[in-house]
Amino acid sequence: MTNSAAENEIKAESRIFPPPAEFAAKAAISGMDAYHALCREAEQDYEGFWGRLARENLHWQRPFETTLDESNAPLYQWFPDGLMNVSYNCLDVNLDNGNAEKVALIFEADGGEVTKVTYRELHQKVCQFANGLKSLGISKGDRVVIYMPMSVEGVVAMQACARIGATHSVVFGGFSAKSLQERIVDVGAVAVITADEQVRGGKHLPLKAIVDEALALGECEKVRNVVIYRRTGGAIQLQAGRDLWMHELVATQDVVCEPEWVSAEHPLFILYTSGSTGKPKGVQHSSGGYLLWAKLTMKWTFDIKPDDVFWCTADIGWVTGHTYITYGPLAMGATEIVFEGIPTFPNAGRFWSMIEKHKASIFYTAPTAIRSLIKAADADAAVHPDRYDLSSLRLLGSVGEPINPEAWMWYYKNIGRNVCPIVDTFWQTETGGHMMTPLPGATPLVPGSCTLPLPGIMAAIVDETGNELPNGQGGILVVKRPWPSMIRTIWGDPERFKKSYFPEEFGGKVYLAGDGAIRNKDTGYFTITGRIDDVLNVSGHRMGTMEIESALVANPLVAEAAVVGKPDDTTGEAICAFVVLKRARPAGDEAKQIATELRNWVAKEIGPIAKPKEIRFGDNLPKTRSGKIMRRLLRVLAKGEAITQDVSTLENPAILDQLKQAQ
Ligand code: WT7
Repeated sequence: MTNSAAENEIKAESRIFPPPAEFAAKAAISGMDAYHALCREAEQDYEGFWGRLARENLHWQRPFETTLDESNAPLYQWFPDGLMNVSYNCLDVNLDNGNAEKVALIFEADGGEVTKVTYRELHQKVCQFANGLKSLGISKGDRVVIYMPMSVEGVVAMQACARIGATHSVVFGGFSAKSLQERIVDVGAVAVITADEQVRGGKHLPLKAIVDEALALGECEKVRNVVIYRRTGGAIQLQAGRDLWMHELVATQDVVCEPEWVSAEHPLFILYTSGSTGKPKGVQHSSGGYLLWAKLTMKWTFDIKPDDVFWCTADIGWVTGHTYITYGPLAMGATEIVFEGIPTFPNAGRFWSMIEKHKASIFYTAPTAIRSLIKAADADAAVHPDRYDLSSLRLLGSVGEPINPEAWMWYYKNIGRNVCPIVDTFWQTETGGHMMTPLPGATPLVPGSCTLPLPGIMAAIVDETGNELPNGQGGILVVKRPWPSMIRTIWGDPERFKKSYFPEEFGGKVYLAGDGAIRNKDTGYFTITGRIDDVLNVSGHRMGTMEIESALVANPLVAEAAVVGKPDDTTGEAICAFVVLKRARPAGDEAKQIATELRNWVAKEIGPIAKPKEIRFGDNLPKTRSGKIMRRLLRVLAKGEAITQDVSTLENPAILDQLKQAQ
């Protein structure tokens, strides 16, 4: 959505939904006074506030004395002299507090088979796998790449790394061999954990074969082992001395594994995300500050209670799956659903039937999923949510992209039955957890707004020079103070970290989120108006335009390419690529055929999620006389709108007509 479109929509939005009294009465943060009291506590004694929460919420093997070390800002350190272990804080603590026999994970596979795992069982699985990893010589500080399907074993693999102090880097199973290899190389992985195949919508997709292909691309000499979880039993090749089955590795391992006590600053994980240049950034997160925020936001945003059944539909390949599947819910001792598959298989009622079957009480998903399920329900009454018993739900959440007010209202009425608050959570891979979100027992909701920052998060809107803007004026979103779960650095590139997130233009002291935002004049509520850099958000997946352009120009047919986002009813934004070939501009069937070829090429270079929805061929791209591509014109063309802007600086106006036609 363009900035102005989002701004207009939110200005027009006057509906307001106060928290239901019954919900507020039992909520962790009940009423706006309680919210403001926490905000005041943070403002009056910032370190005292975070120090108190860290002591109250985490187990410290050795207590920290320093809360925040700013001496090397913006490389901030939180609780650096405290010793702890993330896996201990998620699992062991739940063995001694009455949760041992409580179900931790309810796993439902693509075909509907259900596996339940208690805290005691999960602890044993994690210990055995941790011991297995140790037997391979993996130890504290080593990096391990995880390329796995949604599974109990995926969660176990991440927790096992945390237990021994190995830093994991999960790569989403939809990324190509090339993307996987780039991440393996950049992070210097000593091992890769994968599965024979993954299953999505009844289809089997190879994972191990892609790992083989990635490793064969070279520069992966550090990888000593590939550990394989047997998901389907599909045929794979095993390389002797390097590859081994997960079930064989753990079979002989002890069910007890002493955790490795690490500094709170020890890197728990590195997760790659797209930026405005071609190379993805390895976002490095800490152990203590990260887990503190994962746990606290479970309490504050999701108001999690002991008898809740929590369901976050994300994949562990994204940060949402890290914080709200692998770490946050377990740190709370909650019962959570983990699902393998897609929302539309075996039919578009999958989510609703799973909520009914497992009595989910908190449901957290992405606007894209909601929008596609609205369409499916309109088309086929059999998968309409009113056919299912959703009365177990008490809270709904949204994440990953702006939720348009129409989708919000549908979600509220049809899934929340007009009684469940919706928390529209704004955050990023870099922030580790929620930043701005309603509190379900306190904040009056406005569709399309993520409302207010959480206590301790000092969000503001500034202009290009860093001056704070008054409410009602759109600008650039920043965070004025460091917070515990913030990105620590870009793996191996602290200079890029500083330049990307703490740029000198803003004084080098405030965190630049990369989003535009506006605050409502009366309520002060924030609405995110979209990225201010060359980053697209397609179905809640972050994609850099430069990354896709580099992939396209790597094809021998392509001379030049420019990629822009185009508003899309279902996916939020869609990828539209303008391409100049080295040969004459193709037409008709040939153009269609080359477009298909290029789409498949991008899928191979990056992954299917990066496939352009539209490809348009021209003899050239619209450029200024100095040769600069005029992207604003491309954005207008992509939308299919008439060009009303001044094109007098354009060298080749005739090209615009060619670029109107999509393949
Ligand atoms: C970008 C971060 C949040 C974790 C998963 C995505 C956009 C995210 C919202 C929201 C409007 C949102 C922003 C942000 N975004 N949540 N509730 N409302 N926009 O993490 O891949 O790092 O993407 O997603 O543009 O910068 P990510």
